Amino acid sequence: NQHYKITLLPGDGIGPEIMAVTVEVLKVIGQQFNLEFEFQEALMGGAAIDATGNPLPTETLEMCRQSHAVLLAAIGGYKWDNLPREQRPETGLLGLRAGLELFANLRPATILPQLIDASTLKREVVEGVDIMVVRELTGGVYFGQPKGIFSTETGEKRGVNTMAYTEGEIDRIARVGFATAQKRRGKLCSVDKANVLDVSQLWRDRVIAMSQQYPDVELSHLYVDNAAMQLVRSPKQFDTIVTGNLFGDILSDAAAMLTGSIGMLPSASLGEAGKPGVFEPVHGSAPDIAGQDKANPLAQVLSAAMMLRYALDQPQAADQMERAVNQVLDQGYRTGDIMSPGMKAVGCKAMGEALLKILDN
Ligand code: NAD
Ligand code: IPM
Ligand code: MN
Repeated sequence: NQHYKITLLPGDGIGPEIMAVTVEVLKVIGQQFNLEFEFQEALMGGAAIDATGNPLPTETLEMCRQSHAVLLAAIGGYKWDNLPREQRPETGLLGLRAGLELFANLRPATILPQLIDASTLKREVVEGVDIMVVRELTGGVYFGQPKGIFSTETGEKRGVNTMAYTEGEIDRIARVGFATAQKRRGKLCSVDKANVLDVSQLWRDRVIAMSQQYPDVELSHLYVDNAAMQLVRSPKQFDTIVTGNLFGDILSDAAAMLTGSIGMLPSASLGEAGKPGVFEPVHGSAPDIAGQDKANPLAQVLSAAMMLRYALDQPQAADQMERAVNQVLDQGYRTGDIMSPGMKAVGCKAMGEALLKILDN
């Protein structure tokens, strides 16, 4: 039996609800594939602030470091929105990413045929969409120095963040972008703002230089404003997108809607090979529907499938999990965010039960 230590970070809002469903599904998959999961839960985000005053307790980071993989649900909520920046749930999440050096965030946006009618876009626009957004995750304007709110000579305040990338940071994410495209349809689109930003000019120069090492990948470039427009206009032109931290954050939420709902989108945050990755949905803690059994757990379940595939090297178990998601949709089960006429409305728990029933057969 393969033994895996998995740190669970249920976090806030809908986090604990979608995590509970996912853990049940993982347990069944584990039995079926002879995988022994040792789950250890840790505090993170608002839940950690309430218990310890710190959104990322040292103990949590240490537990994550010593596990094979980390499964994170979501953090944040109104309750903590007015705390000083260093005490906010989001700062804990950035600390986790930085602490584990998770510089590459893979965010696949794939439209499942069952959900075409749940998309706000026309069938012919979204049918067949299969995009991988490779987002840089530990640099750029999220981390650049100086940052803060400073007083000027006149006493007026000035808010500052710095968008910065070193050559090394660009090269390592560019490599992930090219290697990802190579395994897919061989097309890489690098998204920047090189017409205005110096940091983007360096980004573009390094990506072009790197392309020499990947002659089989067809490289293109788009400015981020145009990329946002093209994603909605004709998303099928995209295969793999590589971009910086902030642009990737925004474009991946846009790409999410192509698939019908952000409640369907998983992600994998990866560092150097052999170090634990974090697997988390693209969406947040959805405080507007938290505690009401309304959340779609499928992004979390699909994030666990990415964990099986990328961190634990169990592609068959991952396939099985993704098949169960497909079948549950085939059978017509829908949470509110992906509901369409004639389908069976269910809550988070019932969606989980439907998944378990499929896996039992
Ligand atoms: P959000 O993604 O939490 O919610 C956006 C909208 O999508 C809401 O209407 C919500 O109800 C809906 N939604 C999201 N996930 C859903 C699901 N699984 N099923 C059904 N509907 C779903 O974004 P937001 O409202 O901007 O942020 C809320 C909080 O989450 C903030 O504190 C934010 O900082 C945090 N956040 C955390 C993460 C993370 O933990 N990785 C990511 C994004 C936002
Ligand atoms: C995400 C979130 C985070 C980000 C926030 C909550 C820090 O929006 O994971 O996409 O901006 O990276
Ligand atoms: Mn985001």
